Amino acid sequence: MKRQIVTFTLLLLCALPLAAQKKKEIYKDKNAPIETRIDNLLSLMTLEEKIMQMNQWTYGKNANPNNIGEKMKEVSPMIGSLLYRSTNPEYRNQIQKKAISESRLGIPIIFGFDAIHGYRTVFPIPLAQACSWNTDLVQQSCAITAKESWLSGLDWTFSPMLDVARDARWGRVSEGYGEDTYANSVFAVTAVKGYQGTNLSDKYTIAACLKHYIGYSLSEGGRDYHYSDISNQTLWETFMPPFEAGIKAGAATVMSGFNDISGVPASANYYTLTEVLKKKWGHDGFVISDWGSVRNLVEQSVAKDLKEATQKAFMAGVEMDMVDNTYMDYLPALVAEGKVPMATVDEAVRRILRVKMKLGLFENPYVDVVPEKKRYLLPEYLKTAELLAAESMVLLKNDNSVLPITTKYKSIAIIGPMVKDSVHIMGFWEGMGRPQDVETIYAGLQKEFKGKAQLNYAKGCDFDGDDRNGFTDAVSAANKSDAVIVFLGEKRNWSGENGSRSTIALPKIQEDLVAELKKTGKPVILMLSSGRPLELIRLNTMASAIVAIWQPGTAAGSAVAGILSGRSNPSGKLSITFPQTTGQIPIYYNMRESARPNSGHYQDIPRDALYWFGHGLSYTNYSYGSVKLSATKIKKTDKLIAEVEITNTGDRDGKETVMWFIKDPFASISRPMKELKHFEKKFIKAGEKAVYRFEIDPAQHLSFVDSNGERHLETGDFYVIVNDQQLHFELIE
Ligand code: GLC
Repeated sequence: MKRQIVTFTLLLLCALPLAAQKKKEIYKDKNAPIETRIDNLLSLMTLEEKIMQMNQWTYGKNANPNNIGEKMKEVSPMIGSLLYRSTNPEYRNQIQKKAISESRLGIPIIFGFDAIHGYRTVFPIPLAQACSWNTDLVQQSCAITAKESWLSGLDWTFSPMLDVARDARWGRVSEGYGEDTYANSVFAVTAVKGYQGTNLSDKYTIAACLKHYIGYSLSEGGRDYHYSDISNQTLWETFMPPFEAGIKAGAATVMSGFNDISGVPASANYYTLTEVLKKKWGHDGFVISDWGSVRNLVEQSVAKDLKEATQKAFMAGVEMDMVDNTYMDYLPALVAEGKVPMATVDEAVRRILRVKMKLGLFENPYVDVVPEKKRYLLPEYLKTAELLAAESMVLLKNDNSVLPITTKYKSIAIIGPMVKDSVHIMGFWEGMGRPQDVETIYAGLQKEFKGKAQLNYAKGCDFDGDDRNGFTDAVSAANKSDAVIVFLGEKRNWSGENGSRSTIALPKIQEDLVAELKKTGKPVILMLSSGRPLELIRLNTMASAIVAIWQPGTAAGSAVAGILSGRSNPSGKLSITFPQTTGQIPIYYNMRESARPNSGHYQDIPRDALYWFGHGLSYTNYSYGSVKLSATKIKKTDKLIAEVEITNTGDRDGKETVMWFIKDPFASISRPMKELKHFEKKFIKAGEKAVYRFEIDPAQHLSFVDSNGERHLETGDFYVIVNDQQLHFELIE
């Protein structure tokens, strides 16, 4: 018996350290609950290890000249995140191996990057994607972006950008989904699904990042990085919904913006970052600051130095510091001085570890290494890029059906600085897109019209400057052609970050070129590439047809050529209003009514915008039947069905997007003149019909939010608006 007790005791003494070790490292057990693993890991971490998790450094040369203050460092194995600018997965795996093998606890790094509208395959800018109203194609583009990014070593993209557009002088309107709150909400969910898939730990999925939280697009005067004065009513009614939708769709992260929100910077705003994001919406991921936006709190005069900036940003609810190292430099002292509680540090690190665990980085810290030809620009990727680009293009005008270019034209002049461009056509935030991969408009036209029409090319002029020497050749090309197509537009950095412009008109030299070509008497067709709406009040009268092609990306050539030849029937509708002139800004479709609707408008231009949100023509015609409502009086608990039958009366198949608006003519607060609440895009063959349906749920579609974010549903009159029809119905208790 004694021998047995001794043996048992000896065995127990040997087993204890192993059991202790096993318990000690439960964070490595993929079968243990995530929160248990995090508890365990936090209990083992030193303060230094915790703080390093809350830092992001860059790896690779900064490609964005607007991002200043970059400090290239030898990568610490304890670093929490890298902004990864290499396309090489092997570098990533080597760095990750260093983090796992050389740090005490082996916590993997999360690698992030700006894959905003593509990675190597560049899709149209998001403003253009929204004009397609094709959520399937947009989701596919995000999934392709995620796959190319993941195979290049990334776990995370700083996308989607959800800043509802309000001022086209602000270059970053190019990066969001336009002026409508509901559209930005739908595309927020679409992008999160595309990037994150159904399980973040799956291969080829990456974490999304909703940005820039919040109100950045109201930077005063459209000047980037400037303050934004936003009432709480506007904050909740216009800017919060897309972020709330993205959070409810499971977005892993959020990025805080540069702007101050009525005096309280977005990156130090406890109300938005903690009260709303964490407590009201229950976001369980983390917030990363924008590049240097913690450091910028000093410039914004809410912090006397970087230490106070750190304290303000961290205590407001920013968990990770993008590249300015303030957290690493100042959090240790702030904790030691009791100005930052350890519990707050633990909660911040918990959020970062939670995202890393959901990504599966502890179990699968490395990415597959496949050759570039299997990683990028696959034929199916390019096809998706072409389809999305074509569906994003908007036919603004088409007098006398001058488009599409059919056999009626035997020779066509193709003129302008965009014809052979392969850089600006990708737009800002082109990711790892390369000019050599772009199919230029010139190449696309050569392919499309080979054997069908003679193409006479002349550049005509550059994007800007005063050199008009190219006009002669352009006029000559026009004179020997049946029609003139002019490809004009913006340079890449005239929009995007730090792309604010005092006018949204194209440079005079481009307008003068069109005026010269107009004198030839040939029909002039304008194809406009831009990252924003343009001032077209003068060009509009000179052109017989205008197409907004935006910045279509890698597959530009085929997409543009298909629209011109009629191979693609235009189906795009504006996601943002084109004002008459810059001076008409701000102007958007869902403004509230003026006290004197027929007065107060600018005396020197027409009252209406040149082209309103939702405008877009087709090569076919759609006849809208009478809208039918299932009732004209409903209770708050009822549903109201609205339907409309649409006939394609033309001779071309096409896709038609129906936009359903709601008007609330009287409420306890002033309401927008109308608000988009539902949209649907359908293919309708020539001569055939389709029925579109909108199921109105009063709580969702007839309510409004107040300045505290609380929803209100008031009885009374309402209207459903679709196309040029407006139908009344009444809501009762
Ligand atoms: C930039 C942008 C932000 C981007 C970040 C990282 O300054 O404001 O949208 O994600 O820095 O490049």
